[in-house]
Amino acid sequence: MSTKNKKTGFDRRRFVRTSAAVTGGLLLVPELLSAKAFNSVDDAIKVGVIGCGGRGRGAAIQALSTSQNVKLVAMGDAFADRVENSHKQIEKAMTAKQKTDRLDVPKERRFVGFDAYQKVIALCDVVILATPPGFRPDHFAAAVAAGKQIFMEKPVATDAIGVRKVLEAAAIAKQKKLNVVVGLQRHYENVYQQWVEKLHEGVIGDITMSSVYWNNEGVWVKKTKCATGTTSTGFVATIS
Ligand SMILES: NC(=O)c1ccc[n+]([C@@H]2O[C@H](COP(=O)([O-])OP(=O)(O)OC[C@H]3O[C@@H](n4cnc5c(N)ncnc54)[C@H](O)[C@@H]3O)[C@@H](O)[C@H]2O)c1
Repeated sequence: MSTKNKKTGFDRRRFVRTSAAVTGGLLLVPELLSAKAFNSVDDAIKVGVIGCGGRGRGAAIQALSTSQNVKLVAMGDAFADRVENSHKQIEKAMTAKQKTDRLDVPKERRFVGFDAYQKVIALCDVVILATPPGFRPDHFAAAVAAGKQIFMEKPVATDAIGVRKVLEAAAIAKQKKLNVVVGLQRHYENVYQQWVEKLHEGVIGDITMSSVYWNNEGVWVKKTKCATGTTSTGFVATIS
């Protein structure tokens, strides 16, 4: 089946590149962007999201906001309330038409638990990986093994074993000609790229050392809910 949209002449592979670029100002990984056939039975590109927090929800909304033919078909999270809240918020962000045409995640395709990723991956063409980063290597490797197109958030791993796993899976993705995009948005910002060009042109002479800062109001911390009703900080499972 041709992947080209008859009206727009825009093929689905190109769409994924474009929509991925839209997803949170995401970054394309050029060496991994090459031909790949989709496996949908209909014409819509099926998107699944794993990790229904702020970024997963945001990336899903952005992916669904493209002009191309795309559908959210599966969602997965370790916690049921996350999936449900996220679904509600995605719904809220959609127009009535988008809701009908693009939001297609009935209860039976909302998966909960640490194996949710496997169920989501099985159902989609494009998978958004947006859990905390410690899970990324396993989720990425599973998505690559299943031959899916992938947008994954940064960081892509949290330790040396994870980094090696990601590199190995990335090499397989390359062999399989999968599209893989990582949310390193700054790398793709024109202003950053122009500055790098200038630096290479030597506008400030030879650079002998550099020190890099990111100035903002600090890293956000989410309060966890405890069985006792008290709260603490840190990554602890929610008990309610
Ligand atoms: N590119 C960017 O600018 C950018 C911005 C924000 C966050 N991020 C990255 O995106 C990722 C997610 O951040 P967030 O702010 O959305 O976090 P979040 O805590 O809001 O969401 C993470 C979600 O993943 C779920 N989860 C945890 N473990 C899981 C598992 N094993 N399987 C399925 N679901 C699981 C959690 O329950 C939660 O709902 C992080 O890696 C973060 O660094 C990137």
